[in-house]
Amino acid sequence: MSTGSLLVVDDEPHYRKLLSERHGRNGWAVFPTATGAEALRIAEKASIDVALIDILMPGMNGLDLLERLKSIDPAIEVVVLTGHASVETAIRAMKLGAFDYLSKPYKLSELDVVVERAAERRRLAHRCVGLAAQVKHLEGPRDPMVGQSAAWLATVRLARKAAAQTLPVLITGESGTGKEVIASALHRWSGRAAEVLVPIDCGALPEQLLESELFGHRRGAFTGAVADKEGLFQVASAGTLFLDEIGELPLAHQAKLLRVLETGEFRPIGQTALRRTDARVIAATNRDLDAAIAAGQFREDLLYRLNVVTIAVPPLRERAEDVPLLVAHFMARSKTGACDLEPGGMARLTDYTWPGNVRELRNVVERLLMLAEGPVITERLVASLLVERGGRPRANGGKPAFDRVMPLADMERSYVRWALDECGGNVTTTARRLGISRSTLYRHTAPT
Ligand SMILES: Nc1ncnc2c1ncn2[C@@H]1O[C@H](COP(=O)(O)OP(=O)(O)OP(=O)(O)O)[C@@H](O)[C@H]1O
Ligand SMILES: [Mg+2]
Repeated sequence: MSTGSLLVVDDEPHYRKLLSERHGRNGWAVFPTATGAEALRIAEKASIDVALIDILMPGMNGLDLLERLKSIDPAIEVVVLTGHASVETAIRAMKLGAFDYLSKPYKLSELDVVVERAAERRRLAHRCVGLAAQVKHLEGPRDPMVGQSAAWLATVRLARKAAAQTLPVLITGESGTGKEVIASALHRWSGRAAEVLVPIDCGALPEQLLESELFGHRRGAFTGAVADKEGLFQVASAGTLFLDEIGELPLAHQAKLLRVLETGEFRPIGQTALRRTDARVIAATNRDLDAAIAAGQFREDLLYRLNVVTIAVPPLRERAEDVPLLVAHFMARSKTGACDLEPGGMARLTDYTWPGNVRELRNVVERLLMLAEGPVITERLVASLLVERGGRPRANGGKPAFDRVMPLADMERSYVRWALDECGGNVTTTARRLGISRSTLYRHTAPT
């Protein structure tokens, strides 16, 4: 049987007690109250899943209360209990967004069923938003994890240990090492596996949009806020919130995040009351957060909250034993199907430094399969592909490619432009690989 928090609003002490005790026994956290005003105060503090409200009450009546509860949290499911079967009241309640209504006298077993269905809908609503975010973000459902090197196995072991707790986890590592793979494993191995894993890329959205994604907003809080919106902290309350690229989180939001981690409370934009969340937070970054702190771009106190457990995913060049397994894995997964590889070709792949890590390896395998001209991928093909990518620094025998002394700023600018070109013009990727923010990147590429 599903449970959650249940608000019971009835001015008659007898009913209040009856309902509270019954649902309390069913495992609900019950908040009983006699007035609408008190009910609103409770709803603003606690995260209420389902509300049972009486229509005829002195002071604020049940329909007004229904409307105001919905404006605190549009996803609260409200079941209305009417004293006399008035069709108009029932219709109005449904129009205001009530889940269902029951006219007194009703059977308690009937009420149980309605409350249960309301809770189910609340859960499904959360799940839908979470799944939508997941679909947008994840590269593949449940990517299997491949690796046999001691470094990789140690990472996995640490992740398994961390999964058992609800403490925040910080995952660090170069781009493409598998930070997201580890994050989803942490969720899958945790006690919250049946709940949602909600990922959000902190570097992908403009500031205000990011804030409203994370914390939600009230209708009218800013231009374009045409309806109330639940924040992902709310959506992920029973599950896991994955804050990807945490190093890109603007300073203003860092303060808000720190507060959530410290108190479990946050404030949707345009709302005075605080809301509660029980979301487990996993953060990931490929930036050096200590450097970001030194540069005044990241809060030190936030880092200490996030890195209670840190999982550092090693770069692929430090675990070359994983390369053959990963090659086989990506071949098996490709649309073209697996193909043989000359032993010399595998050796070259294993020796390569993989600056783009596992993601780069996946791309290389896909290109090899595409370019192969027979049933076997030759060492020559592998060599030519790798030279095309990583050969550049080695091509002139390791000597730096300078022919004159120039101002550092010019050097920097042309290097950044080259890097941008190298990353196919993708600003986010380039900034990430250079270890700088996108705005710094823009500054460096701006014409002087
Ligand atoms: N151990 C692994 N086994 C199988 N696939 C992996 C493994 N590690 C990474 N991958 C795959 O490599 C790709 C990159 O992994 P992921 O997105 O987790 O990297 P990341 O560290 O989050 O990168 P970025 O910093 O760019 O966000 C994905 O397609 C992922 O499925
Ligand atoms: Mg990632």
